[in-house]
Amino acid sequence: MIIKTFQTPIEAEHYAADLISAQVRAKPNSVMGWATGGTMLGVYKALCGMDLSFKDIRAFNLDEYIGLPPDHPQSYHFYMRQHLFDHIDISPDRCHLPVGIGDTAIEISRYQDLLRTYGPIDLQLLGIGQNGHIGFNEPGADLDGLTRKTALSPITIRANSRYFGTAETVPNEAITMGIGTIMTARKIVLLGCGASKADAVAAMIQQSVTPDCPASVLQRHDDITVVLDKAAAASLSLEKQRA
Ligand code: PGA
Repeated sequence: MIIKTFQTPIEAEHYAADLISAQVRAKPNSVMGWATGGTMLGVYKALCGMDLSFKDIRAFNLDEYIGLPPDHPQSYHFYMRQHLFDHIDISPDRCHLPVGIGDTAIEISRYQDLLRTYGPIDLQLLGIGQNGHIGFNEPGADLDGLTRKTALSPITIRANSRYFGTAETVPNEAITMGIGTIMTARKIVLLGCGASKADAVAAMIQQSVTPDCPASVLQRHDDITVVLDKAAAASLSLEKQRA
């Protein structure tokens, strides 16, 4: 695990964007794994400002809320169009996200089949939840799991209520890529910023691998870069902060 700590979130976001652009330049037909959430906004803004072609990229997102149609402003379909796809030359028919409406079981198997057909992902971008989730793989998740339906934990619902206005309007279920699939990615870049992530980051890096902190399984990945700002790194040992 490579750990890179920066003074500010902007520096961390730009470093993550540079890792992504290096991947796209090295392999223009890469299979990319995109993440959503507030943390990724600066990464996508940086990517949109680069002189970089995504036209041969295929891409998979980690997750989508169950119950939100793709045109819902809080859906991850909408987020990706708004913050990335509408600003780069990526081809919409090569961008895959789970669809949150319709028959969930059919959608889960459609998504897993696509991942099987086009995978493994070359570079998977990840955020981390305050409870150590990756994608919507909440504490207790199967560390070898595939695409599945998951219930959002109360802490995730509270964290995401800032986008919905109230906790009551946050969907309480999602379709998420499983940790087993995430772990098959050739490269992983995990970005964590802000003091609210400090405990989860410390558990991910310094505790033993446990489903209680799903991100801890990333200790077993052999090509992962964890990119942090100072606040998110604050609960790490000094040795790890300087690594
Ligand atoms: P955030 O979400 O970037 O909005 O904090 C990250 C995550 O839950 O993975």
